[in-house]
Amino acid sequence: MKKLKPTHIMGFIISAAICSACFVLALNVLEKKNEAKYNNFKVKNIDALEDDPAVWGMNYPLQYEDYLKTVDQERTKHGGSESIPRTPTNNDPRAKVSQSKLVEDPRLVTIWEGYAFSKDFREERGHAFMLEDQLYTLRQKVGQPGTCINCHASTYKAMMTLGNGNLEDGFHKLNKMPYFEASKHVKHPVSCIDCHDSANMNLKVTRPAFITGIKSFKKSIGIKDYEVNKMATRAEMRVFVCAQCHVEYYFKGNEKTLTYPWDNGLKAEDSLKYYNDMKFADWTHKKTGAKLLKAQHPEYELYSQGIHAKSGASCVDCHMPYKKVGAIKITDHHVNSPLLKVGASCRTCHNKSENELEARVVSIQEKHLEMRDIVMDALVSYIQKLSNNQNHPRIEKLREYHRNAQYYLDFIEAENSSGFHAPQEAARVLMKSMDLIRKGEDLLSKQQ
Ligand code: HEC
Ligand code: HEC
Ligand code: HEC
Ligand code: HEC
Ligand code: HEC
Repeated sequence: MKKLKPTHIMGFIISAAICSACFVLALNVLEKKNEAKYNNFKVKNIDALEDDPAVWGMNYPLQYEDYLKTVDQERTKHGGSESIPRTPTNNDPRAKVSQSKLVEDPRLVTIWEGYAFSKDFREERGHAFMLEDQLYTLRQKVGQPGTCINCHASTYKAMMTLGNGNLEDGFHKLNKMPYFEASKHVKHPVSCIDCHDSANMNLKVTRPAFITGIKSFKKSIGIKDYEVNKMATRAEMRVFVCAQCHVEYYFKGNEKTLTYPWDNGLKAEDSLKYYNDMKFADWTHKKTGAKLLKAQHPEYELYSQGIHAKSGASCVDCHMPYKKVGAIKITDHHVNSPLLKVGASCRTCHNKSENELEARVVSIQEKHLEMRDIVMDALVSYIQKLSNNQNHPRIEKLREYHRNAQYYLDFIEAENSSGFHAPQEAARVLMKSMDLIRKGEDLLSKQQ
């Protein structure tokens, strides 16, 4: 009989070790498969008009859990928000709000004089607050239309119900109501149903104003009869679900129809031309008499002009990156600043340290804010000079410079990334504002 050599014994031990490792691995895989299966296990059939996120949460607890975290308030260098405690009153039961941008930068009060924005304008915060912040802003004092509710609540069910199954009809009905009547038809902030089809969880656009707006934009670039829910790619949908709300808008006509000014394109000059052609104005400046436009949160429009849009990075890639929970890869439904999760948001594409990436963002933002401040000072100074020269023979031309310069500056000021979404485009639009202010000052001094 051959004697067992020590190498044989070693071989036996090694293969036994490998075998048991395989067994442990197999068990582990089985366990994780089950975990994945249970994750998709439907405990409930979700109705096509279910707007309560808690009900969807029974089937998709992980996404629901993250969605609830949008109540968190955390400041980044130039984004996020601060939680400011306040004493609740009968008129406004909020126990915390975010910081006032008017207190942070009083130049805004001069720029928007005569308009509701000069009374109350705060830092935006998480989706969980969208409905209550709109209900209690002092900007409600002027009597807003139901149109406001389009981007501040889960509106799909309300529109389908009001329109007897026709979304577009329900949309028009909601717009026409006074705000506080419209608000009775909604219950929740943006919810699962506003971005998903409950039957298959596919992404879905539910805002009629966006469906019409993106159709007119596509037409301007030669694509006819665009139907977003049928023709958009999955990558486009990862931008469009956000672009339903994070865009510049106005209320059209007596019907107060929510409308996106995209017939000529998405750039600042395209929407300015649109408004100028129809002689639209949001308000008349109290000191200069100019009929002005207020731009609001054009995140989608500015992003569209930047390198990340050109490279196919979507809002969702940065603001709702994939994350792992056990063996499951999910989309992070805690929508917030990417600087609070740089690793997941940026390192999928950029092989740099988190510190380095954050420093790059902050550096872009600080250069941007420096440029914006220069233009803001120039506009405030022009407003003062113009208000002291109301009898100037070329007053209408001077007011036209004010109108256009205001729109360009506001388009950039109102955009919430502090330049990051498209730094060079933001700088270019600021320069256009500066150029108009310079021309206005030139004319003022020539014919005094
Ligand atoms: C390449 C990554 C990237 C993409 C793509 C992107 N963003 Fe951002 N976004 C950022 C960064 C970085 C900031 C700055 C955050 C900060 O200062 O804390 C930001 C800021 C914002 C803010 C302000 C957040 C805050 O906390 O102040 C909003 C709102 C926003 N983005 C919406 C969008 C929308 C909508 C889209 C798509 C149309 C989009 N973003 C596309 C990276 C991105
Ligand atoms: C097209 C979509 C849209 C419509 C319509 C809309 N909002 Fe908003 N609103 C947003 C978005 C996006 C934000 C977050 C970004 C920001 O604050 O710039 C926001 C933020 C706000 C905030 C919190 C920050 C602040 O400005 O103090 C208030 C309050 C608000 N909106 C009130 C209103 C009122 C009042 C109306 C109607 C006159 C209205 N909204 C109509 C999309 C919309
Ligand atoms: C139904 C309209 C709507 C949709 C859809 C929507 N948002 Fe918002 N978003 C808002 C409003 C309104 C606020 C401001 C809420 C407030 O200040 O009370 C906001 C706030 C934010 C903020 C600031 C969060 C913070 O913590 O400071 C970010 C970032 C953001 N949205 C990104 C996105 C992205 C990315 C998408 C798409 C996945 C998206 N939003 C879809 C309306 C919308
Ligand atoms: C503002 C839009 C938006 C809202 C609101 C929203 N989602 Fe999503 N959800 C997305 C996006 C974007 C994806 C990624 C889909 C893709 O890439 O095809 C996603 C993916 C998912 C998925 C697929 C698995 C995954 O994690 O990628 C599930 C399940 C899901 N969401 C559940 C929910 C639930 C439950 C709610 C409500 C509590 C909700 N979502 C609210 C935008 C949204
Ligand atoms: C889906 C991939 C993708 C994601 C996610 C992404 N980037 Fe990028 N980023 C790119 C590409 C591609 C470029 C263009 C660079 C090139 O072509 O060499 C770029 C360019 C940049 C630039 C230089 C351009 C400029 O605007 O000055 C910075 C800074 C940057 N990214 C930061 C970030 C940060 C911060 C995040 C996370 C919040 C992020 N990126 C997320 C793909 C991505």
